[in-house]
Amino acid sequence: MPAPSVISNSRSKKRKKPKPEAASVDGEGGATSNKLQKLNKDTAEAGGSPVNAFLRAWAWKREPLPDRYKYDLPYVHKFVSGGQEGSLTIQQKRFKETGFASTVWDSSIVLAKYLERWQEALVRGKRCIELGAGCGLVGICAARFGAGSVVLTDLPGNLSLLERNRSGNSTQDTQVSELVWGADVAHLEAPFDVVFATDVIYDGSVIHQLVATLIKLSNERTRILIAYGRNRWAEKEFMDAIQLDFDVVEVGRELLDSVYACDDVKMLSLTRLARRTPT
Ligand SMILES: C[S@@+](CC[C@H](N)C(=O)[O-])C[C@H]1O[C@@H](n2cnc3c(N)ncnc32)[C@H](O)[C@@H]1O
Repeated sequence: MPAPSVISNSRSKKRKKPKPEAASVDGEGGATSNKLQKLNKDTAEAGGSPVNAFLRAWAWKREPLPDRYKYDLPYVHKFVSGGQEGSLTIQQKRFKETGFASTVWDSSIVLAKYLERWQEALVRGKRCIELGAGCGLVGICAARFGAGSVVLTDLPGNLSLLERNRSGNSTQDTQVSELVWGADVAHLEAPFDVVFATDVIYDGSVIHQLVATLIKLSNERTRILIAYGRNRWAEKEFMDAIQLDFDVVEVGRELLDSVYACDDVKMLSLTRLARRTPT
């Protein structure tokens, strides 16, 4: 966490050590979050001075955090929906042989905040599915924003943490389901209204399976939202693989949440092209 070292608190002479209950980067859970709340408030009061805006834009990012915040402590995510404040507690774990699913990646926060901003139009009442959900932040947020239903999917070895986060955040109409990209999706009742995936463009060897799954889960009315951060080693393969079947636009920075956006996270919106007729 780079921000706390530059935050001063004049009343903090006898401040107790923060309790390590939750690794919040989003406004709650101990002294760190108090500092971040103060930082957010200061920035708003400063009328968005460039220095404060810079700090605010950095304060939520998780990739520079020490490992215990990324793996050992839960991540607490705050949001507003229907005029009410809410929060999710997302459990994390150290990486094992099951890959990189067990921490909350920055791009999932960017997409979750984008959904929060546009929840009425994008999520409410919609049938949603998340691919490679990891800890499940995006899909669980969608459920809290009034999705009609949400399926959180991942590789078999990552489902227990996903289920723990699903049930621990008392989301209605959500289920966890195994989905290895490229595999049969008959059990999922496609097409969906919305498909989400974050930080899944890093392994070129599974890009064709991922795109095959996007095709199976969608029709021309499905909105597919894909966000990814610095781990984008297979971006070219992905763009090549989708070009015949999908229209793709990059979601402009002005449409993202003004704080929860950054230069190293990109978001794409994909729409299926009408089925080509053989010539
Ligand atoms: C970097 S993690 C991102 C997790 C989560 N979406 C996030 O942004 O916090 C990549 C995710 O893709 C999943 N994944 C990787 N290869 C997969 C495959 N072949 N089929 C299904 N899921 C896969 C991983 O299990 C993991 O959950």
